[in-house]
Amino acid sequence: EFNVIVMAGGKGERFWPLSRSQWPKQFLTIAGERSMLQMTVDRLRKLVPLAQIHIVSHVNYRNIVRMQLPELPEENILLEPAGRDTAACIGLASYKISKQHPDSELLIVPADHYVVDEEDFVKCLLKGRDVLRATRGIVTLGIKPTYPETGYGYMQVSSRGEDRIFAGFKVERFLEKPNRETAEFFITQPNYFWNSGMFMWHTDTIERMIKRFLPDLHKGLETIRPALGTADEQAILEQVYPRLPAISIDYGVMEKTDNIYMIPCEFGWNDVGSWGALDKISERDMYDNVIQGNVVNLDTHDCIIHSVGDKLIATLGIQDIIIVDTKDITLVCSKYRSQHIKELIKELKRQK
Ligand code: GDD
Ligand code: MG
Repeated sequence: EFNVIVMAGGKGERFWPLSRSQWPKQFLTIAGERSMLQMTVDRLRKLVPLAQIHIVSHVNYRNIVRMQLPELPEENILLEPAGRDTAACIGLASYKISKQHPDSELLIVPADHYVVDEEDFVKCLLKGRDVLRATRGIVTLGIKPTYPETGYGYMQVSSRGEDRIFAGFKVERFLEKPNRETAEFFITQPNYFWNSGMFMWHTDTIERMIKRFLPDLHKGLETIRPALGTADEQAILEQVYPRLPAISIDYGVMEKTDNIYMIPCEFGWNDVGSWGALDKISERDMYDNVIQGNVVNLDTHDCIIHSVGDKLIATLGIQDIIIVDTKDITLVCSKYRSQHIKELIKELKRQK
């Protein structure tokens, strides 16, 4: 049995003002016609039937998930009473799945990433599954870095390519979110890759690693385990889950463990981290603008203009500007600052 866990609990603050805590990024239609979550599930269905896809999200988003994925069996939705980062999220889902399917193979994916070539994406995952079966280790999907991003994890593989199993390279080191200097060095090397944030392993493997590296999380999950899949599930989660240690799987497990393999991938991956990322994934007009909604422009170049209401946005003689217009808030922001919207939200909270 091969099961997929979709992590869909993030807050997505950098897509403010379109994303709010009531309606974060994974539920928004930022590029294309379907929400990020719907597009994620659509492409996973090319790999497994819907019954093997599980969504982990916050209780507040229950109705949004059900509305956006009406065909998903209800028991495949796991609801966290509080966000405790990805180690707890993955641990919880793994425990629930292994109760029904002991030693299941798992694929973990984020709900809010963009993939250009979906056929190639599926091919890479199938290669990953071969490596998983041959090694019973951890399989990751690596992306060739194009700039020194400090918000990603990096994987170093052996430069000579020995220790290869099928398409998988043995990972010698996993480093989460390096500093600027280190990232700048990594991108000059041929054998460093970005971690795309997707993982494959067996339920037994991840449970053993949580026990070893995150013993408090293990203890908490053991308290929850008997209630999973029963009528008491949500009540026990309310009691225990908010007190679980909050740490990401990358810091909590990936940096500490070995037996990691990596499939190098080139399917056009983007984690759509900010408004600026739309440049890379959306269609542009002849002046390189990305436009959505009711917009008229003249001498406007390299702008991202996104309007959700009926109001007309008219621009003249601007370049490298992001404009996002919602019912109650209009954002006007330099394209070079779209990574810093979290700071703007902080300032907003301070002033209001
Ligand atoms: N259900 C649930 N609960 N989902 C969560 C939670 C949680 O508490 N916390 C985060 N997520 C979801 C996010 O919505 C996102 O889809 C995914 O898990 C990853 O979390 P991020 O917070 O976005 O992680 P990151 O971007 O800092 O780093 C990870 O992704 C990078 C690639 O995008 C790491 O795996 C990096 O190594 C990797 O390079
Ligand atoms: Mg992310």
